[in-house]
Amino acid sequence: MCEDFEEWLATDSFRSTKHSSMEKLIVHGGAPLKGRINISGSKNSSLPILAATLLTNDTCTIRRVPDLSDTNYMVRILGELGAEVERASGVVVVKAEKIKSVAPYDLVRKMRASICVLGPLTGRLKECTVSLPGGCVIGDRPVDLHLKGLEALGAQILVEGGDIFVNAKKGFKGGPMNLMGKHGSTVLGTDNVMMAAVLAKGITTIEGAAAEPEVEDLANFLIKMGAKIEGAGTNRITIEGVKELHGAEHVVIPDRIEAGTFLVAGAMLGDGVTLKRVMPEHMKTVTDALIKCGFPVDITKDSITVKPNPNAKGFDLTTLCYPGFPTDMQAQMCALACVINDTSTITETIFPQRFMHCAEMKRMGANIDLQGATARIRGGSVMKGAPVMASDLRASAALVLAGLVAEGKTEINRLYHIDRGYEHLDDKLAALGAQLERVQDK
Ligand code: EPZ
Repeated sequence: MCEDFEEWLATDSFRSTKHSSMEKLIVHGGAPLKGRINISGSKNSSLPILAATLLTNDTCTIRRVPDLSDTNYMVRILGELGAEVERASGVVVVKAEKIKSVAPYDLVRKMRASICVLGPLTGRLKECTVSLPGGCVIGDRPVDLHLKGLEALGAQILVEGGDIFVNAKKGFKGGPMNLMGKHGSTVLGTDNVMMAAVLAKGITTIEGAAAEPEVEDLANFLIKMGAKIEGAGTNRITIEGVKELHGAEHVVIPDRIEAGTFLVAGAMLGDGVTLKRVMPEHMKTVTDALIKCGFPVDITKDSITVKPNPNAKGFDLTTLCYPGFPTDMQAQMCALACVINDTSTITETIFPQRFMHCAEMKRMGANIDLQGATARIRGGSVMKGAPVMASDLRASAALVLAGLVAEGKTEINRLYHIDRGYEHLDDKLAALGAQLERVQDK
């Protein structure tokens, strides 16, 4: 058991997180991509599922947890809350027997997704204190819908001094609610309320629930723990509260955004990239978009192969809640549009400010015109390598993709953004033939 966190801090996984902040990636453009890679477990499924282990004092085993700084932070948060946590490569074993109700500020503030401990902590302990998550470069990150859902279950909530205090001394009471916000449904908000409702007295119905596969994966784990949930994966979820939950084992679904990122890379250059250990049914809007552009895409039950097409046509996309086109693939599609000899547009409705990557791509010669929340990209011009600044997880990955096709060398600083959400992205790209290296930032 990784009892002492100092001991854990000395492990490789933490060291990789710590060092990446002083590292940058040098990408030498033009090397063709070819081959097969295995897609890792989903970051956005792992985080709420790890938080859900707080709902029982039995042992839970979660498999295919990707080795990322975000999952490392969540493991640390569980430990600092008092859970016993053991991590061996992709397997995390958690026993949350005696846990505290106050989440550690210094860790929570580093990762917005920590907010998803709110529901399970309050569900288990009837109270909790979690710091307000900071905003980030993709936009303001409010939690009003999370709090609305918990209040609908009978919680008293106070937000003061940068902290959220949730009190449900008499336990949660199930009830109806609608979690739809002005930008659509909330993924982690739906997760939080679902995790609070599983131990509530009575029936909870969530209208306007997020339908993402990661929400469904969390529900499937909770059901293995003894929860009674129906409708996960749709916009209406019904939960019948139970008295307690027991331990369970679970294999996290594949990361559909990592997979989409590699599909775009394979469409941009080379002679065919095949993804293994994917769930194509989770990526239909992405594969449909590539097929519509004219990229050859071959899909089997657990693999997807894509090849470039020099005569590909432009696309017109709008990001939407699942099953619409994912906002987490918007930046990557901007990179792809740069190599399509046509005009493409992409409109961002989930995080309208999520275009930090455009300015950096323009430094590389991209022809992008931003009008409000719509980017219009005239592709086909030669991209030239340049030093660029990573800003958020998906924008950083998009800059790596742009560097793969640019002439010369692209230097991507602030590599920690990528290490937050991609498991060994550079190693996997190198295995496909990309020419890139990590170097220490001076
Ligand atoms: C999840 O974030 C993902 N993160 C994000 O992926 C993803 O971009 C996002 O869902 C949308 O799909 C994880 O799952 C860890 P939201 P989440 O609540 O749940 C507004 C990545 O790159 N909103 O679904 O925090 C919000 O401002 C990350 O892997 C409210 O108004 O996002 C946004 O406009 C980035 N009030 C929209 O809803 C609230 O209380 C969707 O946000 C909550 C959200």
